[in-house]
Amino acid sequence: MDDKVIDFINVNRDRYVEELKNLLAIPSISALPERAGDVRQCAEWCAAEMRRIGLQNVRLVDTPGNPVVYGEWLGAPGAPTILFYGHYDVQPVDPVELWHTPPFEASVRDGEIYARGAADDKGQVFMHFKAVEAHMKQNGRLPVNMKFIIEGEEEVGSAHLDDFIRSHKGELKADVVVISDSGMFARGVPSMCYGLRGLVYFQLDLRGSSTDLHSGSFGGAVANPGFVLAQLLAQMKDRGGRIKIPGFYDDVVPLRDEERQAWSTLPFNEKQYKKDFGIPRLFGESGYTTLERTWARPTFEVNGLLSGFTGEGAKTVLPALAMAKVSMRLVPNQRPDHIADLFESYVRKITPKTVDLKVTRMHGGKPWMAAHDNPFVQAAGRAIERGFGKKPVFTREGGSIPVVSTFQEELGLPSVLFGVGLPDENAHAPNEKLDLGNFHNGIIASAILYDEIGTVPPQA
Ligand code: BES
Ligand code: MN
Ligand code: MN
Repeated sequence: MDDKVIDFINVNRDRYVEELKNLLAIPSISALPERAGDVRQCAEWCAAEMRRIGLQNVRLVDTPGNPVVYGEWLGAPGAPTILFYGHYDVQPVDPVELWHTPPFEASVRDGEIYARGAADDKGQVFMHFKAVEAHMKQNGRLPVNMKFIIEGEEEVGSAHLDDFIRSHKGELKADVVVISDSGMFARGVPSMCYGLRGLVYFQLDLRGSSTDLHSGSFGGAVANPGFVLAQLLAQMKDRGGRIKIPGFYDDVVPLRDEERQAWSTLPFNEKQYKKDFGIPRLFGESGYTTLERTWARPTFEVNGLLSGFTGEGAKTVLPALAMAKVSMRLVPNQRPDHIADLFESYVRKITPKTVDLKVTRMHGGKPWMAAHDNPFVQAAGRAIERGFGKKPVFTREGGSIPVVSTFQEELGLPSVLFGVGLPDENAHAPNEKLDLGNFHNGIIASAILYDEIGTVPPQA
C-alpha cells in the first residue's frame, strides 16, 4: 500500500476523534421506543457521512423496524467486492448514575474515548468510514469494490435483517463480508476471531394468584411464584455447571485438540481476570478452562429476575407474580429454534400446577465458525500485522452477531471479523470506552485490509 494513504490517516488523527464525538452524541438506543427519532437521525448521520467520503448510491432502506443504511463504491471492475456490515444502534445506558461522564457527551481521558457506542459499534464502523475517506482523498478510488450495510437493530436481535438480505440478494453480491464489531484478545494482542456463539432468549412469567396476598393470612397455603421460579431455575444446571435440559448438548461440536492446545498458549491470566472484574471465584462447566467455557461451550444464564417487594424496608407479601429473563449462548451445531423447543418443553414439564406459566420467546441467533482455509482471513491477518505491528492470535468469542451465519447461508459469503475492542471496554455496561490508539491503528489496518483483499484472486 502506498504510504500517502497512511500519511493522510496520521495527519488527520485528531480530526477523526472530533468527528466521532458527533456520531457518539446521537442516542440511537434501539431497545427504547421513545428513541426511534434518534435512531433514525443516526441513520441519516451515517448516510450523510457516507456520501461525504465518496460512497455512491447512499440511501436509507426502510424495514418494518429501523432503516438499514446502504452505500457502495463499485469502481474497481475485476477486483473483489467487500460487503461491510456494522450497526449504528446502541444499548441502553442504565444504570446511568454509574457513568462518570454523560453517555452521549463523549469525553477523552487517558487515551480512551468514553461514550455509549464508542466500542460497540459506532467507533469501529467509523474506522472504516475514515479508511475509505483516506483512500478516496489520496487516490480518488478504492483498491476494491465495497458495499456498506449499517443496521439499526443489532442490539435487539436483528429481527428484520434476514428478510432485508433475502430480498436484496442480487444487490448484495460480494466476495467477502468484513465486520468490525468484536474485540482483540487483550491490550497489545491483536487477534482474528473465527467463531461466535449463538443465542436464544426467553421471558418466563409465573402467576400464583390474581393479586398479591397477605403472607400471614395466605402463606403456607398458596405457592409463592418467586420461590417456584427459583426452584425452576435451580433445575437448569447441575453443581458442575452442566445444563440439564434434555438433549441440550446433542448437537454440540466438541472442542478440537488443536484448538485447546492453541488457546492454552494465549496470554490469559486468571488471577488478573478475577481482579479486573471483581470476581471472588470463577465458576463454569467442569473440565474446561475459562477461554473454553466462554468461546466453545454453551451456557444458560439468568439475565433478570423480578418478584415481590424490592423497595427499602420490609413488606410481608406473597407476590402474585414472578418474572425471569433467561438466555442460552449456543455453539456449533446447536440450532436456536431446536434448543428453544427443548427448553420450552422442559420448563413446561417441571413447572408445578400451582402456578400459571407464560413462556415468551424473544430474539435469537445462530452460532458461527469460519472455515480455516479462507484466503480473506489470511489477507486480514496481514493487514492487522501491518496496522498493529504484530501478528494476530486466533480466537473465538462468546458474543453473538446473528447476521454472520445469514451471510454464509443466504449469500454464501465468508466473514472476516476485524474487531479492535478490548475486553475491559465496558460494552453494554456503564462507562463504555474505546482505546484511541486501537481506533487509530484500526483505521490504518482497515485501509491496508482493502489493499490486501484487492490482491486476493477471484474465488471459485
Ligand atoms: N458486538 C456485539 C457482539 C460481540 C460481543 C461479538 C463480544 C464479539 C464479542 C453485539 O453488538 C452484541 O452485543 N450482540 C448481542 C446479540 C443479541 C442481542 C442477539 C449479544 O451478543 O448479546
Ligand atoms: Mn456490536
Ligand atoms: Mn452489543
